[in-house]
Amino acid sequence: MSETILVTGGAGFIGSNFVLDWLAGEHGPVVNLDKLTYAGNAANLAAAEGNPEYTFIHGDILDAALVARLLAEHRPSAVVHFAAESHVDRSIAGPEAFLRTNIDGTFVLLQAARQHFASLAGAEKDRFRFLHVSTDEVYGTLAPHDPAFHEDTPYAPNSPYAASKASSDHLVRAWHHTYGLPTLVTNCSNNYGPYQFPEKLIPLMINNALSGKPLPVYGDGLQVRDWLYVGDHCSAIRAVLQGGRLGQTYNVGGGNQRTNLEVVRTLCALLDELRPHSPHVPHIDLLTYVQDRPGHDRRYAIDAQKLESELHWQPAESFETGFRKTIEWYLANPAWVQNVTSGAYKSWMQQNYASRIPVAAVPSEGATR
Ligand code: NAD
Ligand code: DAU
Repeated sequence: MSETILVTGGAGFIGSNFVLDWLAGEHGPVVNLDKLTYAGNAANLAAAEGNPEYTFIHGDILDAALVARLLAEHRPSAVVHFAAESHVDRSIAGPEAFLRTNIDGTFVLLQAARQHFASLAGAEKDRFRFLHVSTDEVYGTLAPHDPAFHEDTPYAPNSPYAASKASSDHLVRAWHHTYGLPTLVTNCSNNYGPYQFPEKLIPLMINNALSGKPLPVYGDGLQVRDWLYVGDHCSAIRAVLQGGRLGQTYNVGGGNQRTNLEVVRTLCALLDELRPHSPHVPHIDLLTYVQDRPGHDRRYAIDAQKLESELHWQPAESFETGFRKTIEWYLANPAWVQNVTSGAYKSWMQQNYASRIPVAAVPSEGATR
């Protein structure tokens, strides 16, 4: 019986960490289907090159014939679906790609998985899983003292990205309920760690700080995110794949709520310590408040109790250990950063930040720097 898994979007940030961890743990062969958009980078998987357990397929999840062929040829025991357009600011600037990949792409995968599942029998059929990797943003935003998101929190997506992910979650739910597809959904909070594309808060701030550029904090910087080290997200996905109940969703989070200002301050202090001779010490002097993101969600927080009690999952990293590891990784890998911050990246930075006029900080709750 095949132990192979089919991963989509395995050349992106979380997908590449997942594939590398999977191969390192000798869990079985991986077929990685990735379109290599601006966010995908085959170099993330350089360590897997030449590994007979690893197959890379350059292609689009919207290509139904390709997806059907991969399922028929490799007969995977699971599809682990990461592929998505994932950046909220880009979804505001241009939502269409988000609807195509996140909604239509998930639909194509579900249909192909459904046909494939129908062709299976016996133990192969019992074993098959479709795991959809989703986000806490589907639940919308929390007020300061609201309880954290749990699996029954009503969906209330606020950005085009969140709406597209919410739609895909609903499709997965319906394919389980109506067609009996053995699905699992994970809704995770903000990840950070190696190989994250430097358009997202943490790698962007590291990259800008190292080159002495402004650190653009949106609005008052008091928005709260619940940070999880990427390796812990990957271990949660493995736990759900192995023991999750069919048709269920599992929230994944590290219990690390921080304001964006706290994140940037911690990051600057660590850079001061690790790069004491940089001309940009103290890095916090680079902090610049800029115009806010439209529709910006104020707070996310995850209640991961279900995952912890049912599947005995616990994150291995605290915010402090994971954050230090992450900064050390970016400092040790300038070539990777240089490689992904080429022409297309520069035009995105221009598009997203040129119109965000620096603004004075709103003086509230210790927001001063
Ligand atoms: P990412 O943007 O870094 O990577 C996405 C990957 O998908 C890239 O390799 C890209 O080339 C690929 N891709 C995009 N469109 C494709 C298509 N049509 N066909 C095939 N491949 C395609 O994203 P990420 O941050 O690694 O997120 C992975 C998944 O996890 C997403 O589904 C995202 O919604 C979810 N998620 C992310 C976070 C986070 O903090 N980054 C948190 C929770 C959930
Ligand atoms: O919550 C999970 C989600 O986390 C994932 O589903 C998304 O794929 C992932 O991108 C992330 O979304 P966010 O919008 O929370 O992440 P981002 O890194 O873009 O922003 C984090 C916070 O930092 C957010 O409040 C906006 C703020 N920010 C971001 C950037 C890029 C800034 O203040 N300045 C910036 O330049």
